[in-house]
Amino acid sequence: MGEVYVFANQKGGVGKTTSTFNLGVALTDIEQRVLLVDLDPQAGLTFYSGYEPDELEQTVFNCLVRDIPVHDLILTTEYGVDLLPANIDLALAEMQLISAPARERRLTRIINQVRNKYDFIIIDSQPSLGILTMNALAAANYVIIPVSCEFLSIRGTLALLKLVAKIRGQLNSTLEIAGILPTMFDSRTNHAREVIRILNEQFSDIHIFPYQVNRSIRFAESAREQKPIFEHKIQVPGALAYRELARDLVKFKLRRSS
Ligand SMILES: Nc1ncnc2c1ncn2[C@@H]1O[C@H](COP(=O)(O)OP(=O)(O)OP(=O)(O)O)[C@@H](O)[C@H]1O
Ligand SMILES: [Mg+2]
Repeated sequence: MGEVYVFANQKGGVGKTTSTFNLGVALTDIEQRVLLVDLDPQAGLTFYSGYEPDELEQTVFNCLVRDIPVHDLILTTEYGVDLLPANIDLALAEMQLISAPARERRLTRIINQVRNKYDFIIIDSQPSLGILTMNALAAANYVIIPVSCEFLSIRGTLALLKLVAKIRGQLNSTLEIAGILPTMFDSRTNHAREVIRILNEQFSDIHIFPYQVNRSIRFAESAREQKPIFEHKIQVPGALAYRELARDLVKFKLRRSS
């Protein structure tokens, strides 16, 4: 039975999409069956995965709003992960779902159709806390919060934690925070190290993954080239964290099922 993870943080540009794609590929590299779900109308994940969002006629939007069976919409990718894609149509979902019954549980229903086919389903959410992110949190077993290593990012994390608590109370009582993943870490600055220290101090009851995704221009390049960060000819320091995270998630899963 697939476990569902969501990368969430209402702060933009902290590495949600980059993490979703590279973690997904790292998981397939260790023989896991992975579905990535793009739940952001910006469709960065769909592009990163090798597709031109505007050329897609049907996307996750059609499942969410029009009840098209999800099997018909899942795309394969060059790097082994499957993808439920998005494009700008998804921006309309927010409005169209306002009066829909069980509007926060639409994604849960979609994911339940394919859960048995995958070991991991990873959702990329948009940088806001609206109905799409609520759907993602309602469908997930675990949330991973990428936090870029700057002071301002820490403040935003509190708002997300409040939303998670609310979702737990109202929609998904078993939702757990898998951890905070420090991103954009610049090992040369004291500032970045200080942020890690504060994260550990301020969120002492939340797991802070003990590895950081280093800041590297190679991530932007890899997205533009639509290739995972591991494909770069020289090993990119930040890439290793995604390998470690993949191994940890598999370990956690095995531990839970034994
Ligand atoms: N570790 C990193 N070091 C440097 N740049 C990075 C790193 N990770 C991602 N980036 C770049 O930073 C930008 C934002 O990353 P990304 O799109 O993954 O963030 P996001 O949280 O999904 O953003 P949004 O909230 O807009 O969806 C992108 O240009 C990406 O290539
Ligand atoms: Mg994104």
